[in-house]
Amino acid sequence: MKKIIVFSLLGIGALTMMQCTKFTSTGSAPAPTLPSTAFHYAINIPNGTIDNTPSHNPISDDGATLGRVLFFDKQLSINNANACASCHHQENGFADPVAKSRGFEGELTSRNSMSIINAANENSYFWDGRTDGLEEMVLQPVRHQIEMGMEKMDVLPAKLAKTAYYPELFKKAFGTTEITSDRISLAMAQFIRSMSSYKSLADESGVARNWGFDSANVLNTAQKAGAQLFFGQAGCANCHSGTNFRGMTDNDIANIGLDVAYTDNGIGAFKNDDSKNGVFRIPSLRNIALTAPYMHDGRFATLKDVVNHYNKGVNKHPNLDNRLRNSGGWGGSDDNPRRLNLTDNDVNNLVEFLKTITDKEVTTHARFSDPFAAK
Ligand code: HEC
Ligand code: HEC
Repeated sequence: MKKIIVFSLLGIGALTMMQCTKFTSTGSAPAPTLPSTAFHYAINIPNGTIDNTPSHNPISDDGATLGRVLFFDKQLSINNANACASCHHQENGFADPVAKSRGFEGELTSRNSMSIINAANENSYFWDGRTDGLEEMVLQPVRHQIEMGMEKMDVLPAKLAKTAYYPELFKKAFGTTEITSDRISLAMAQFIRSMSSYKSLADESGVARNWGFDSANVLNTAQKAGAQLFFGQAGCANCHSGTNFRGMTDNDIANIGLDVAYTDNGIGAFKNDDSKNGVFRIPSLRNIALTAPYMHDGRFATLKDVVNHYNKGVNKHPNLDNRLRNSGGWGGSDDNPRRLNLTDNDVNNLVEFLKTITDKEVTTHARFSDPFAAK
């Protein structure tokens, strides 16, 4: 009770004097600027969509605020070169606009940095789905040899404790100033889970619920035609389905014939199983217009390149998914890669539809922005 009074008094004091709290910086590291009343981070997930929030780590405004600061803080890398946000940019749907990203020592990552929006609705992470559990996942980039290099994770709490602002932020989030790896992971998972995106034109139109039919009548002619192709002739929704335009089931994975032989075998490599070579998780297409380049290796620069691949570029691979074969997996003599026979106009319409899955709220709102850059 006492704590609440002290905090609210501080809050009112801060509000009357200024809108934001600018913390004092220590040494050369900059300090974050945060609103005196925390932003609201609670999320509203549509019915029928999984919510992986564990009961021990619900999103709180102070927890997600701490997560925001951690996410944008370069001190999480061993040499202060990289923050999470160095490879996951807000304006790019929290992906990186390059095929491969630069690690803390300038080395390239082995895969394309992916969007992390709607992570609350996934049950596995990375292109190959090798990790489940967001709390467990978020510390992996910190320890990663190429990404952030903090191989001895236990030095991080001590490093953060030396700043003027972290002890206070941890106290707000967890009740005491103690900084632990566990708390770092909990706060970052809260922040990432709060990046929830359901305010796109595609949502408004209801196409995902109605298999391509724009029941709200909000799409233009090209977008409507594209939606019909996506859910119909082009067969995209056989894989990118549901409210998140992701796999049909939680474990839906596929080889989409990008190559005759893959250099990165994805799930086949990590499971050491040739029958899974070239197989990857079916990613969500949320905010896809913002997250170029595309695929696990960032090989396609534009959505048009992606659609052209499905239209006429799918390669014959022993593990090619049945949904991309002429036989559709029903046997028969023709097991070759399917050609969609889309016209240029169809391709453009499909791209126009893909652009409607963009939600500017997450990619522009201050609560997801860099607190170290805020004025
Ligand atoms: C140097 C670039 C880089 C940095 C720094 C980085 N990431 Fe990533 N991130 C990637 C790449 C590349 C992938 C895909 C890796 C793979 O599939 O093997 C990825 C994948 C992810 C995913 C999986 C998303 C999904 O839907 O499966 C999440 C979540 C994520 N990163 C969060 C973070 C967090 C949190 C941090 C900071 C602690 C961070 N990243 C730092 C490059 C980076
Ligand atoms: C057989 C299942 C399947 C079908 C059908 C399918 N996709 Fe995909 N899609 C995938 C998988 C798996 C990936 C990731 C592949 C990789 O990176 O190796 C992917 C990746 C993508 C990406 C890139 C995602 C990113 O974040 O880089 C886009 C865009 C895309 N698909 C759009 C479409 C469209 C449009 C169609 C219909 C023309 C379609 N897909 C049909 C399974 C499928």
